[in-house]
Amino acid sequence: MRRAIYPGSFDPVTNGHLDIIQRGCKLFDEIIVAVLVNPEKTAFFTIEERCDILSEVLKTIDRSDCHVLVESFEGLMVQYAAEREANAIVRGIRAISDYEYELQMALMNRRLRPGLETVFMMPAEEYSYVSSRLVKEVFQLGARVDGLVPALVEQRMREKIK
Ligand code: PNS
Repeated sequence: MRRAIYPGSFDPVTNGHLDIIQRGCKLFDEIIVAVLVNPEKTAFFTIEERCDILSEVLKTIDRSDCHVLVESFEGLMVQYAAEREANAIVRGIRAISDYEYELQMALMNRRLRPGLETVFMMPAEEYSYVSSRLVKEVFQLGARVDGLVPALVEQRMREKIK
């Protein structure tokens, strides 16, 4: 049983995240999409909203035979991964600029838990510039974000600012 954790803030989930999950589904039997509870970060969506949106949109993607579930977690990610008996961490890398931070995290996580591998995956080129941060920024300034996030996300974002 190959189980991976795909951790992140997912505020909100983007089409880039979904692309990574779909690719991960070809490698793992189970992927736990793990939403970090981070009280220090000002969020657009609450943890519950993010988990709810993720659960909904994950029903719409090609998961192959992979079991994909959504959970939230607090504290050290490697500790959470150990509790879930995961073999790997999945992280998406869009551009070389992501690499430095991701490498630091991967090596720190390896130091903390040597048996847990980090697997870097590249999303489709069309999502190489898509980030939750920029999606929120352009949306809040009045731009459409269709094609960058699932339709449900855009709809929930509109409801949120009403
Ligand atoms: O989507 P993000 O915000 O880039 O994800 C970052 C995340 C959640 C993967 C990272 O902040 C994390 O793992 N936080 C949990 C706390 C932890 O384990 N920190 C040490 C990382 S080396």
